[in-house]
Amino acid sequence: MNPLTLATLRLLSDGGLRSGEQMAAALGVTRATVWNAMREAESLGLEVQRLRGQGYRLAASPAWLDANRITAALGAGGARFQVQVAEAVDSTNTRLLAAAAAGAPTGSVLAAELQTGGRGRRGRAWTSGLGSSLTFSLLWRFEQGAAGLSGLSLAVGVAVAQALAAAGASGIGLKWPNDILFQGRKLGGILVELQGDALGPAAAVVGIGINVRLPAPLRAAVEQPVADLAEAGCIPERNGLLAGLLARLAEVMERFTAEGFGPFESAFRALHVLHGQAAQVLLPDGRVLQGVVEGTGGDGALLLRTAQGVVRLHGGEASLRAAGAVLP
Ligand code: BTN
Repeated sequence: MNPLTLATLRLLSDGGLRSGEQMAAALGVTRATVWNAMREAESLGLEVQRLRGQGYRLAASPAWLDANRITAALGAGGARFQVQVAEAVDSTNTRLLAAAAAGAPTGSVLAAELQTGGRGRRGRAWTSGLGSSLTFSLLWRFEQGAAGLSGLSLAVGVAVAQALAAAGASGIGLKWPNDILFQGRKLGGILVELQGDALGPAAAVVGIGINVRLPAPLRAAVEQPVADLAEAGCIPERNGLLAGLLARLAEVMERFTAEGFGPFESAFRALHVLHGQAAQVLLPDGRVLQGVVEGTGGDGALLLRTAQGVVRLHGGEASLRAAGAVLP
């Protein structure tokens, strides 16, 4: 994204009408540059109204992310986070992994208005819009080593579902290992990436993407059925939503550090949309297992009852679907 695009949009944030000339003068650029910025904003999913002879206005103005507002909304808990907001980055996970390698502390947070190379599980891209999604990563360091963190992404899913419910969303479910769903459609996703030794200290970068209010062109660009928070009855202010998510995530991280996945198992089961259901799992080698979802192990493994007995599956590259659903 051209840095001028967001600067131009900020001038329209109050919902008012501004002429191209006014905006060009305010930013010290040409009217053609403003015109290009408006075109880019539209291509990123924002609805720009052009009133002949008068100028530009945003149909709905997003509250832009602001590190100070996020920290203020965290209250006393804000002290355990170092929040940074980027206008556009390739991937907040990629950036925070690099920061972790350079020694960034637990509680480092990077949120982005726009990701140009957002990453999902299984090598997929994560598509998000400007001002219509929440995309962020949180760094957390663990003494127990990467081997003890296998259930972490499930515990994170529980934290996200609980924080979204607290923000007013209803009907949010989870699908093992880390899909956030509304009415069977994808509302968000979690990508946990680990750095460090299997047994020594490890760093986890927890990346979370949530569809807040997806414009139609963006929905069409995503390959799978998607949902957003607005459909779940929640139209949040994104800075406050991020603060609520961080506060709940910190509680979950602390409990996970002390007790592992065990304390989150029953909450995960209650949120798991396929619990007790006939399901199929696509394995990395292309095999498909059919069975019934029995629950999860204490390490976050999926327990699938098949004709051959109960199989334990680990997050990794496995993909779970309801029986009969088309596998990707
Ligand atoms: C998935 O469902 O496959 C996981 C999606 C995770 C997306 C988030 S958005 C913030 C963070 N940065 C990334 O590049 N990915 C994660």
